[in-house]
Amino acid sequence: MATPRQKLNTKEHKNKHKVSEAQIAVHWKEEGYYRPPKKFIAQANLADPTFVKKFSEKRFPECFDNYASLLDWDKPWRKTLDASNPPFWKWFVGGKLNVCYNCVDRNLAKYKNKAALIFVPEPEGEAMTVITYQELYKRVNEVAAMLRDFAALKTGDRVTIHMPMIPELPITMLACARLGVVHSVVFGGFSGEACGLRAADSGSRVLIYADGYHRNGKWVDHKASADIAVQTAKKEGQEVDRVLVWKRYPGKYTSESPMIMGRDYFVDDVLKDYRGQTVQPVSQDAEAPLFLMYTSGTTGKPKGCQHRTGGYLAYVTGTAKYYQDIHPEDVYWCMADIGWITGHSYIVYGPLALAATSVLYEGVPQFPDAGRPWRIAERLDVNIFHTSPTAIRMLRKAGADEPKKYNYHFKHMTTVGEPIEPDVWRWYYDVVGKREAVIVDTWWQTETGGFLCSTKPALDPMKPGSAGPPVLGIYPVIWDENGEEVPAGSNKAGNICIRNPWPGIMQTIWGDPQRFVTQYYKKYNKNPRSKDWRDWPYYAADGAVLPADGYYRILGRVDDVINVAGHRLGTKEVESACLTLPEVAEAAVVPAVDEVKGRVPVVYISLKPGVLPNKAVQDKVTVTIETIIGKIARPKNIHVVPDMPKTRSGKIMRRVLAAISNRMDTGDITTLANPDIVEQIRVLVQGRDIGPLQEGPEDIKRFGQEP
Ligand code: PRX
Repeated sequence: MATPRQKLNTKEHKNKHKVSEAQIAVHWKEEGYYRPPKKFIAQANLADPTFVKKFSEKRFPECFDNYASLLDWDKPWRKTLDASNPPFWKWFVGGKLNVCYNCVDRNLAKYKNKAALIFVPEPEGEAMTVITYQELYKRVNEVAAMLRDFAALKTGDRVTIHMPMIPELPITMLACARLGVVHSVVFGGFSGEACGLRAADSGSRVLIYADGYHRNGKWVDHKASADIAVQTAKKEGQEVDRVLVWKRYPGKYTSESPMIMGRDYFVDDVLKDYRGQTVQPVSQDAEAPLFLMYTSGTTGKPKGCQHRTGGYLAYVTGTAKYYQDIHPEDVYWCMADIGWITGHSYIVYGPLALAATSVLYEGVPQFPDAGRPWRIAERLDVNIFHTSPTAIRMLRKAGADEPKKYNYHFKHMTTVGEPIEPDVWRWYYDVVGKREAVIVDTWWQTETGGFLCSTKPALDPMKPGSAGPPVLGIYPVIWDENGEEVPAGSNKAGNICIRNPWPGIMQTIWGDPQRFVTQYYKKYNKNPRSKDWRDWPYYAADGAVLPADGYYRILGRVDDVINVAGHRLGTKEVESACLTLPEVAEAAVVPAVDEVKGRVPVVYISLKPGVLPNKAVQDKVTVTIETIIGKIARPKNIHVVPDMPKTRSGKIMRRVLAAISNRMDTGDITTLANPDIVEQIRVLVQGRDIGPLQEGPEDIKRFGQEP
């Protein structure tokens, strides 16, 4: 499908890359295909192959009108795509709409008494809460009135929301969308400091919090982190003058953290003044920003991916309809957290725009035991299920036979966020799905808004371990470091890129358009002055391989980002956190393979002269990482080394450390300034015995490779 078009032929470029991606041959067993179940096909939203033809490349970009027409527009768009200022695309130009109206109001006519959200608390004895579309409408309006009149938020303002998985989170997001206020949801598990940095970057003067939540059988006092967030934002020059606090149990404040007079307000108190109020949805330009989602990149600072109103909602609605097969009568449960892009696109916006019932679960899947998800599915008659390989591995480990004990029936299951091993895929298919459910392995990113590769659930056979063909309207290509196409069937890996723009792609990086261009478009753009979108392929920073059948297999990140339990962690962010300790001279963070979480960070530090290695320093490193970033970044090991392996120009050779952490071949170390250190570190990490070397996965082989 992909045409060879791009060639980066500069000598400089070629010399910079000693090992080209394409030189890494990928050896893996071709898996057999699985056919979608007949019962599924009979009811699927996308069962007509002629619909697929509407998205052929020659119909680009108008093919995406098919998605936009799933929405209610206040004013129709004049032009599908304005690509005159690459790579700053404009979608559905001239169109106006409101996202909250599309996800809530328009469903009232037919579905007002149907459940929009079902909240499942982590404590199993606590009653579930059903919120109908009618009630959602009421609650969202009241919150919108409060945000507008009490918090003085206007269209275009940014607000940072640091909340756990409780229904007040989507309610607050939808209230923002109603007003055209740009929300920036920070994952509840991030620390107060991480939240404060993001609040400052986005210029939020209002923070929205919850007092606490249940997680893994414990009560988490969440409000305490609000004070740290406000202080951190202030240090960064951003004043936060209002902190609105939702109570997990209405009427009962469950945090130890004192409320600060004049700054902190309980939402349930303030809302009393707005009971029954309605707010006209603000008709937004299709290109107005809808939300920011911060994600890790190659530098220490997280970047705010800015998503647009019309294109984003059209894309997530279309992909949720055709790839998740959501019908209004379905009960859909995505176990992700709303604080990540998966939750935004495929718990809140896509499913609600399709009038589905979306289940929200507060806690961890295996609490109090590995049967919990299957009890929830049985009880609520969930028929579409969506989770990550890490959760699947965890549930299998904790109770491989559990699903068999429960009488639930999924028609459809999604996996997202990391490559799934064929073996894990088969357990998902055989045991969780009881061989009744179709599986889609969806590859995409925070930046891309929605899916990029996935099988069409009723039309394409599934192949374990492969994301599959590109989704409708997406035209990928794999290039090597020199811009040569890596052909299908070559068994070679390369960098996967998307040749065309699509409506779900982020608009820009908040406040840093130059970085947006550099990060995603510069690598394979051969003419920065070109006004032709064909010269601006999107660089995804993932390695991939394409067999002859056209099913993309994603190998993982090619940059400094590691994928921990399906969550992106910038190794530079973790290194910066380590370097805030006065004892630490140098830090390097590398990925290690983990049986459950996929990859986990391993930290190497060297200490300043005069500081002796001791356990207290290691503990301090862990605490510091958890304070600055959050528990998700907790390292598996911290190794205190006498020195780092370095090039003659003083660069830390992270690839050598990654090889040692994974018992892989350290490769050529003769060019190092201090080659002897490698054996010392190896003994420190692995002990004296030299065990057999591991082959190691592609992403770790590539990690820390020079440029
Ligand atoms: O490396 C890819 C991996 O997750 C990265 C994106 O992470 P994030 O922005 O947090 O979004 C996660 C949810 C979309 C990608 O660059 N990834 C995502 N989905 C898959 C995947 N790797 C393999 N297979 C997938 N299905």
